[in-house]
Amino acid sequence: MPSSSTLTRNRLAIAFRVVLVAVVALALSLVAASPAEADSGRPGITKKHFGTLSGGKKIDIYTLRNSNGMRVKILTYGGILQSIEVPDSRGRLANVTLGFDNLSDYVAKSPYFGCITGRYANRIAKGRFTLDGKTYRLATNDGPNHLHGGTKGFDKKVWRADPFRRGGSVGLVLTYTSRNGEEGYPGTLRTRVVYTLTSDNRIRMDYRATTSRPTVVNLTNHAYFNLRGEGNGRILGHELQINASRYTPVDTTLIPTGRIARLGGTPLDFREPTAIGDRINSNNTQITRGGGYDHNYVLDGRGLRTAATVVEPDSGRVLKVITDQPGLQFYSGNFLDNTLRGTSGRLYPKRSGFALESQHFPDSPNQANFPSTVLRPGDVYRTTTIYAFSTTS
Ligand code: BGC
Repeated sequence: MPSSSTLTRNRLAIAFRVVLVAVVALALSLVAASPAEADSGRPGITKKHFGTLSGGKKIDIYTLRNSNGMRVKILTYGGILQSIEVPDSRGRLANVTLGFDNLSDYVAKSPYFGCITGRYANRIAKGRFTLDGKTYRLATNDGPNHLHGGTKGFDKKVWRADPFRRGGSVGLVLTYTSRNGEEGYPGTLRTRVVYTLTSDNRIRMDYRATTSRPTVVNLTNHAYFNLRGEGNGRILGHELQINASRYTPVDTTLIPTGRIARLGGTPLDFREPTAIGDRINSNNTQITRGGGYDHNYVLDGRGLRTAATVVEPDSGRVLKVITDQPGLQFYSGNFLDNTLRGTSGRLYPKRSGFALESQHFPDSPNQANFPSTVLRPGDVYRTTTIYAFSTTS
């Protein structure tokens, strides 16, 4: 016969097992519930395979999500913002940036959709500049000029990606080292771009670069927006306001003439909110030269400030571009020509997306009266731009 102490031990063992099973069951149920919980508004970041380059390099797509359900997708190829889903005034999400759903289209035919643009965003006349008495030659990939860093600029490089979470924000640190002489530029340039998606629907972009030799640098992001949703027609009804009272007029190859001219009285003046389409067909030589708007605005003020505000009246979506840069290129998508099929499978006609590229002025390396874009060893290039999304009501 078992003693009473043996009985007590057996009972204790049974009770222990019951508690153990209950704890395991509870833990399993929590694990099973976590995906649903993630969908219901916690910030997060996930990674997937997007495609493989012909040389065999694998490209990832990261999805950043904030607590409002806003979602941003970023490729390790070109640091491209592939998709930006934001709510309209009734809470309905749409992807408001132009892009492709596959890697080969980005490689073969992207007009710089969403990418990091460098080493020198925008144009350098005749692909040539002189620094400290030495002349450097760069590719001429835009008529007689150098555009957006050359034939294989930062938009076509594979960036290392390190995801992070900080409070309610999620982000991606992208790094790329451009070797001395790459695309003709002097100095090894160590570059870092941090994308942060905040809990208040902002995409913050912090750029940093250092060099081993004197060089020039001008980095930006080249997202095209359509606040109606990409593939949803033209952007002519978007109301734009730019905080600039001057701009840099261009010659026939879109290189600044060197003049800094007043916008007052011209159809390029956007100090008051105006529909992009209102004056785009004006018979103004600057506008006809660009085939529409394709100009560098000299921003008023200094430091991190609102450069431009865009309101799309039908959806109520609002985009603010906030930057510490001296200039902003407003490009009204004039070269889109209904041949590119975008992310949602629809064609992108002329002026179905616009870009607002924070930057130093085009051709600064050749223009002594423009703010300098020279970076020297020991100095740190830093700049910040924010795309802030909201709605009218
Ligand atoms: C330039 C345009 C160019 C576009 C796409 C913009 O930054 O100003 O002239 O066509 O980029 O490359």
